[in-house]
Amino acid sequence: MRRLPAIPPPRPPLTALDIIDGEHRSLAAVLDALGRYVEPLRQHRVRPDCDVFATILAYIETFADRFHHPKEDEFLFRALRGRTREADPVLRRLQHEHAVGPAELEALKGALLRTRGGGERDLDEFAFRLEAYARGQAEHLRVEDDLVVPMARRFLTPRDWEPIDAAFRAHRDPFFGIGANGPIGGLMRRAVALA
Ligand SMILES: [Fe+2]
Ligand SMILES: [Fe+2]
Repeated sequence: MRRLPAIPPPRPPLTALDIIDGEHRSLAAVLDALGRYVEPLRQHRVRPDCDVFATILAYIETFADRFHHPKEDEFLFRALRGRTREADPVLRRLQHEHAVGPAELEALKGALLRTRGGGERDLDEFAFRLEAYARGQAEHLRVEDDLVVPMARRFLTPRDWEPIDAAFRAHRDPFFGIGANGPIGGLMRRAVALA
């Protein structure tokens, strides 16, 4: 008798930490590609492709600033505050960065628009803001990974995790899914190739 192929066991649902890890990797890949663009811009070897950049910045705006960071504030950070005071200083810093991030992104978008038909000064300003933004955001992710995630693992109980897991499962990264291999990868390669 022929054996039927084995049915793989169902995968356990993703936890909030799985999702945060995947989203951080996606964002880090985007920020890394943006960072690589800075030097050629500064040397005036390239003019930014406004469509590519606008898409990338819209990705950060619609995904990170609207879903990822607010859910950290509302669910993960709040639960952690309920269990320990140890995390307070780092959570204050990260929440401040969440609060000012959208305005920094707006300023970056404004600088991008001014490069259209603008002069070298406009390119310099865009390069300056791009570098500061990419560097600041990458550092933000690093602090969350290195300080907040270990504390969350240490202090939060299985019952604390239930609403956090549910909140993070309720949205989808519009470009990537989990991981950095989605369609925006093509856009990012285009941006890097142009650089
Ligand atoms: Fe964050
Ligand atoms: Fe985060």
